[in-house]
Amino acid sequence: MKRYVILISGRGSNMESLLDAGLPGECALVLSNRPAVAGLDAAARRGIATAVIDHRGFASREEFDAALAAEIERHKPDLVLLAGFMRILSDGFVRRFEGRLLNIHPSLLPLFPGVKTHAQALAAGVRLHGCSVHFVTPALDGGPIVAQAAVPVQADDDEASLGRRVLAEEHLLYPRVARWFLEGRLQLIAERVKLSGEVAVGGALHVPQVVAT
Ligand code: GRF
Repeated sequence: MKRYVILISGRGSNMESLLDAGLPGECALVLSNRPAVAGLDAAARRGIATAVIDHRGFASREEFDAALAAEIERHKPDLVLLAGFMRILSDGFVRRFEGRLLNIHPSLLPLFPGVKTHAQALAAGVRLHGCSVHFVTPALDGGPIVAQAAVPVQADDDEASLGRRVLAEEHLLYPRVARWFLEGRLQLIAERVKLSGEVAVGGALHVPQVVAT
């Protein structure tokens, strides 16, 4: 049975979707860099071990990342899933977990890295927005993309309404990708994504109609 660890910083709704997906693996730990967040309670309710490593207790990013890496390694995971983990990770950390470190980001990368992605999408006027699951490399929100789901941007969307529809897709996409990895079908080889076997295409690519004027 493969083992995975989930890193969170807050609400943890993506974590919940992973834990509730019946993945073919064991969640060894949910770790947060913030104490007393809702996601920790949600994990504990499901009987999952939790830990907090508060980044504010460390003098540098490298020291925090070293403590984080040590706690993760203790659980010997095959896969580490960043799920709303709001810390930039040092190159050393990323290299150490390369090929077994996935992230979900609420935009169609490489568009709109960073935060406030729904506001960025609305400001840019894109017709399609969405989410991406990618292997993590040292670039912020960079790294080989494994899968994306797209949602149409509606004329009356605001940040909240668009964010809700993207989040619903995140909750479908991330467990699907995690399953591929845990089944041994998804690998990162020479910085390229290799996915083998049947891939059910589901979810959410909506292409808006072009209205002739
Ligand atoms: C999600 O939109 C995720 O893509 C982003 O941060 C948000 C976290 O939400 N990285 P949650 O904690 O999973 O509910």
